[in-house]
Amino acid sequence: MTKPFIVAIDGPSGAGKSTLGRRLARELGLLYIDTGAMYRAVALAAAEAGVSDTDAEGLAGVARRASIRLEGDPDSLRVFLDGRDVSAEIRGEAAGRGASVVSTVPEVRRELVRRQRELGRDGEGCVLDGRDIGTVVFPAADVKFFLTAVPEARARRRLGEERERSAGRTFEGTLADINERDRRDATRDDSPLRIADDAVVIDTTELSVEEVFQSMLRTVRDRRGGADRGGDEP
Ligand code: DC
Repeated sequence: MTKPFIVAIDGPSGAGKSTLGRRLARELGLLYIDTGAMYRAVALAAAEAGVSDTDAEGLAGVARRASIRLEGDPDSLRVFLDGRDVSAEIRGEAAGRGASVVSTVPEVRRELVRRQRELGRDGEGCVLDGRDIGTVVFPAADVKFFLTAVPEARARRRLGEERERSAGRTFEGTLADINERDRRDATRDDSPLRIADDAVVIDTTELSVEEVFQSMLRTVRDRRGGADRGGDEP
């Protein structure tokens, strides 16, 4: 059996990880794993069970008990929590904030990292997007990307996505949320957001989705080329 081909995409919120991750997975015929969705699902399960943000032991228990399934292809990925489709509920900045908080708990991380490794080892390979993929979950990933952009650009993108869901969000509010989330994700003790030494860093501030996509695709094809794994080379 050939070793699965792993593409890690890390970076702060709103840098384009999910859009690019999905596209890359589709193009390469790989599984797409949205690890942020798993933290979001745990945050939702905790809120529904009345477990407080500060109860680390309670949150660890919620993470261990939660059944989280990611289903469908990259463009229509659905997230199921204990058999219920929560794909819509876990989106939005409030759910992101909840996920950012529960993700500071080491036992929650340990449980989800274990599941992510299991998912990633299955099959031909996958594209995973998150904060610690290249540094912790798959430190030996075949290709690692770190996508970033200035906070103002990320807030503008987030606001565009949010508008469809919740009216009344302001640019200032979204920017404040992004800054707060960056701070928490980058300063937590366990697996903070950081750039892996061997990651390809792309600042997407001034680039179109298409430009970033083509650049990522070239990098992946260069790395994959010699190994002749996918059969999708010309
Ligand atoms: O990518 P996202 O916005 O859906 O992630 C939500 C939060 O989950 C993020 O602010 C931090 C946390 N997270 C994490 O700690 N590690 C990951 N691999 C993915 C997400």
